[in-house]
Amino acid sequence: MSVTKTLTVRQATMRDVDQMLEIINQYAQQGLMLPRTKLSVCEHLQSFVVAHDGESVIGVAGLHILWEDLAEIRSLAIAEKAKGMGVGKQLVLHLVEQCRLLGINRVLALTYQKAFFEKCGFRVVAKETLPQKVWKDCINCSKLPMCDEIAMIVETATA
Ligand SMILES: CC(C)(COP(=O)(O)OP(=O)(O)OC[C@H]1O[C@@H](n2cnc3c(N)ncnc32)[C@H](O)[C@@H]1OP(=O)(O)O)[C@@H](O)C(=O)NCCC(=O)NCCS
Repeated sequence: MSVTKTLTVRQATMRDVDQMLEIINQYAQQGLMLPRTKLSVCEHLQSFVVAHDGESVIGVAGLHILWEDLAEIRSLAIAEKAKGMGVGKQLVLHLVEQCRLLGINRVLALTYQKAFFEKCGFRVVAKETLPQKVWKDCINCSKLPMCDEIAMIVETATA
């Protein structure tokens, strides 16, 4: 597990963008997550963190604030070579801590990765309980009519 020895989780920079896109869009092509354009990553760069192993970006995650008490983890993806080494969990816990420091009480994930997010302290919630604002960006998603993603939440105070 050499990757964890030099692992850094930090704010994303413009120099990371191409590697971030490569990781995200590889999974988007498999239908596991939404694709991102270079423009959208650049525009939202401040909301992204990356995991870096000293040589390259091996993980990426974004945080989107939805409301005063709710933020969503988006575009979470770990490079194939680094999966299963705790990198995803570190990125998620980093963003949850960021939310706590920002005074945001709850963090949301819309995901197919139920077991992974449970390991990060999240629990499943009924989609109907979420504010309508959550679905604003779903308008461009081909899965909108029959979205089968699971809604999961963690309270930042208890994470
Ligand atoms: C899902 C994903 C982010 C997990 O990242 P990861 O770095 O491989 O996961 P970690 O090594 O941090 O795993 C943390 C824990 O979750 C568990 N876990 C991870 N993926 C799992 C899975 N698919 N099923 C069950 N458990 C899983 C691990 O065993 C580990 O458990 P432990 O704490 O008891 O050791 C990564 O596999 C990925 O990028 N998948 C493709 C893109 C994707 O689906 N993104 C999510 C969009 S919401």
